Amino acid sequence: MIFTKCSSPLKGELSIPGDKSISHRAVMFGALSEGLTEITHFLPGADCLSTISCFRKMGIDIQQEENRVLVHGKGLHGLSAPTEILDCGNSGTTTRLISGILAGQTFVTSLTGDASIQKRPMGRIIRPLTMMGGQIASLKGNDCAPLQITGSPLHGIHYQSPVASAQVKSCVLLAGLYADAPTSVTEPALSRNHTELMLRHFGAEVVSQGVTATVSPEPRLLGSSIQVPGDISSAAYFIAAALMVPGSEVLLKNVGVNPTRDGFLKAVLDMGADITFLNRTTQGGEDTADLLVRYSPLHGTTVEGAMIPTLIDEIPVLAVLAACASGTTVIRDAQELKVKESNRLDIMTESLARMGVDITATEDGMIINGGSPLQGAVIDSHLDHRIAMSFAIASLAAEGETEITRAECVDISYPEFYSDLQSLRQ
Ligand code: S3P
Repeated sequence: MIFTKCSSPLKGELSIPGDKSISHRAVMFGALSEGLTEITHFLPGADCLSTISCFRKMGIDIQQEENRVLVHGKGLHGLSAPTEILDCGNSGTTTRLISGILAGQTFVTSLTGDASIQKRPMGRIIRPLTMMGGQIASLKGNDCAPLQITGSPLHGIHYQSPVASAQVKSCVLLAGLYADAPTSVTEPALSRNHTELMLRHFGAEVVSQGVTATVSPEPRLLGSSIQVPGDISSAAYFIAAALMVPGSEVLLKNVGVNPTRDGFLKAVLDMGADITFLNRTTQGGEDTADLLVRYSPLHGTTVEGAMIPTLIDEIPVLAVLAACASGTTVIRDAQELKVKESNRLDIMTESLARMGVDITATEDGMIINGGSPLQGAVIDSHLDHRIAMSFAIASLAAEGETEITRAECVDISYPEFYSDLQSLRQ
């Protein structure tokens, strides 16, 4: 797909598609609840469709029409043994969260996913689930999918997680629903807390104290309605675009601004961004706002430490912004980027360098000296949706043509991405 520099301001408004993390959880927790769950503003991206397909294979009736989903839940013990392998596609959230649920069932399940999923580390969930008494085998013996999970009686544990990961935390808490005593997870820094908020919404007892979350076993979960907020991770591309293209003014409606997800907003405000928060509200414990974003000359910043989990998926597009900002941006403590859908540290560094950016990879991040003009280049997405979208945004500031190959992978989290971007170009 070919992109050209954007020489006129971006103008208009967008309703940002539903949050991917929250959409997954709404389907999963709806399936484990008694009765009907109605999900509105659901994200019909390929990842969330993988979650729906897995639960259908375990006997849950789910009707999905675009953004509206009806889940006919059968309660905590209502899943039935699938007759085929569960395919999690490209989705780490599906794979890791479902594994926690499957560990506490009374049947055996196998699950797998695409080539990227089969390379992602699953030892991080196998270890705590095994401590709980779970039986999880990596079928190739490499701590990756395909996994075979033999449902077993589980014990409550206190797990000190070595990584700040909402997927690990959620996996352990979901297994904790089936345990014989409370289960808690302590993280090195707080990761997104959608599981804690939504489990409470469905009736579970979940206590959050700082970086520790504790769940009580065997709750009675009841079907509910969930209105999914717009995904801040998707909004980030248009925030970046409006900040970069002179004269732009864009209104992004209904964006989730949960404090465990708002690191990108904090980082760009620190860089000098002009963003006005309008219509702040809270739905099911999740904060949302409309964001009015105006073009702003930006300067470099440092992102590190506890802030990293709050903007982990936005680092690729933050690196693009840093390339266009004046001065130096330093990103540290972001080694988790190496084990996402692709190795995002390596790919961002190589690809931005190809566009003429002064960028150096470090052990756990990157150093970007911004402000030099960007040059169009041929960039491969590596089938990573966030790489494709980040470079579509970079192309707006680049001289000449930028070609993104395998650009269609945006379907994973934002099927309408290219048409939404086009709608803001005049
Ligand atoms: C997610 C958690 C994060 C994030 C991913 C979605 C979730 O992953 O990168 O896109 O829905 O819980 P980690 O938990 O591996 O950091």
